[in-house]
Amino acid sequence: MANATALNTNSVYNYDVVRQFTLMTLVWGIVGMSMGVFIAAQLVWPALNFDLPWTSFGRLRPIHTNIVIFAFGGGALFATSLYVVQRTCRVRLISNRLASFVFWGWQAAIIAILVSYPLGYTTSKEYAEMEWPIALWVTIVWIAYSYLFFGTIARRSVKHIYVGNWFYGAFIIVTAMVHVVNHLAIPVSLMKSYPVYSGTTDAMIQWWYGHSVVGFILSVGFLGMMYYFVPKQAERPIYSYRLSIVHFWAIIALYIWAGPHHLHYTALPDWAQTLGMVMSIILLAPSWGGMINGMMTLSGAWHKLRDDPILRFLVVSLAFYGMSTFEGPMMAIKTVNSLSHYTDWTIGHVHAGALGWVAMISIGTLYHMIPKLYGREQMHSIRLINAHFWLSTIGTVLYIAAMWVNGITQGLMWRAVNDDGTLTYSFVESLESSHSGYVVRLVGGAIFASGMLLMAYNTWRTVRVGAKEVQISMVALS
Ligand code: HEM
Ligand code: HEM
Repeated sequence: MANATALNTNSVYNYDVVRQFTLMTLVWGIVGMSMGVFIAAQLVWPALNFDLPWTSFGRLRPIHTNIVIFAFGGGALFATSLYVVQRTCRVRLISNRLASFVFWGWQAAIIAILVSYPLGYTTSKEYAEMEWPIALWVTIVWIAYSYLFFGTIARRSVKHIYVGNWFYGAFIIVTAMVHVVNHLAIPVSLMKSYPVYSGTTDAMIQWWYGHSVVGFILSVGFLGMMYYFVPKQAERPIYSYRLSIVHFWAIIALYIWAGPHHLHYTALPDWAQTLGMVMSIILLAPSWGGMINGMMTLSGAWHKLRDDPILRFLVVSLAFYGMSTFEGPMMAIKTVNSLSHYTDWTIGHVHAGALGWVAMISIGTLYHMIPKLYGREQMHSIRLINAHFWLSTIGTVLYIAAMWVNGITQGLMWRAVNDDGTLTYSFVESLESSHSGYVVRLVGGAIFASGMLLMAYNTWRTVRVGAKEVQISMVALS
């Protein structure tokens, strides 16, 4: 019966593209995190750079960041947005062929990144390292994705547009805007270009883009996910629909202004730095409003956390979201930033958001979605999900705690001065004192990544059995 329903749903909605993105999210998650573990190991044992340009930390680091953000995080956003928009608008995607183009087009862009970065082709702008032909291709795929998403909304069979779609919609529009503006460049050869901006303007545009990646991909996109999947998994309506609307408009209005906090104490005019700082502090309010809205959805259902590890993934991800959006505004205060900037504290903050929030909400959501996509009652093993939950939580805590200790130690050592005004410590001494933290980060990262392998096994078992049962019920129906 469950399978017949799944088959029915499949003919109403386009689940093919959702399945494709879901599986590739898993694959890219494993690739991107393994790369993270490898570069973490390079920081413990520099010999792992192998004295080769292609395997050097400098070239592999952007592969890690691009794969985890665009292929893993992006994949989860493509999969869930295309699932949510169909289910909440009660209509099929407007075009199967366009959906297929978006999937294959995005994978092609990721492969181009994977090949070009080790070869040394880079714009050198963080999270925007792709050279102009790849950036152009990404723009084309993004336009197709926008058309697919908004076209489906336009054809909806219900009047109301569910709030999750508002968040996904904002993520799509703002990402397009900042991607195009930051990549404006003059090509001088097939794989080399120069930005149209220079000096401080270039830096400001870059961090307006950089923080919008954080704000609109890593936050707003995943908040769209939260608004659909937390109520679904908790089997409760969202705590406050009114709060979700206030949350939406406040976060949209504020995020775009916070970029200058990446450029404190630089050539950027002081007023712009202060504006970035103030906007970042105000941003705490809507961020926590959203987190509270998600958390409180569990009112009356807290007991479910005892035996539902998927719900635990979702709720703990919200706790990490709350933590990183408290830490971020604090780090945006200029005096705090003068200690944290350039240190591992930033790396700890990044991964509190990236592992604790982005990865954990994606993992919980995929566990919710996979059985539905393959016509199963539930995942193959709930015990494995539980084990995965603990590996992710322990891995994240080890990672970020190690980076906090390292970051604060580095900050304090760099600013320590003797009575005669000379520096108390050399840079190498601060590096030596960071070594044990790097070992702990490597262990935490490896623990987190090993959880992804459990997920791959669990998914494979679910998909395999699901595929078999769907075949059987097709025979039964024919
Ligand atoms: C097993 C998991 C992971 C490990 C071991 C890991 C490890 C690392 C390492 C070693 C760095 C370089 C730090 C440095 O330059 O000092 C890094 C940077 C970074 N990682 Fe990860 N990572 C993991 C997962 C993720 C995930 C899932 C995301 C995003 C969703 C992510 C996003 C980033 C970003 C944005 C940076 C650059 C940070 C900055 O420039 O401040 N990482 N990671
Ligand atoms: C209210 C929310 C947030 C604020 C105000 C904020 C603020 C900050 C600040 C001040 C920095 C350090 C800048 C520097 O010294 O260079 C930073 C870095 C960063 N944050 Fe956040 N943060 C917030 C939430 C998040 C979340 C949820 C994530 C999700 C993963 C995130 C990801 C990052 C990344 C990737 C960087 C490193 C950028 C780089 O230098 O490469 N932040 N953030």
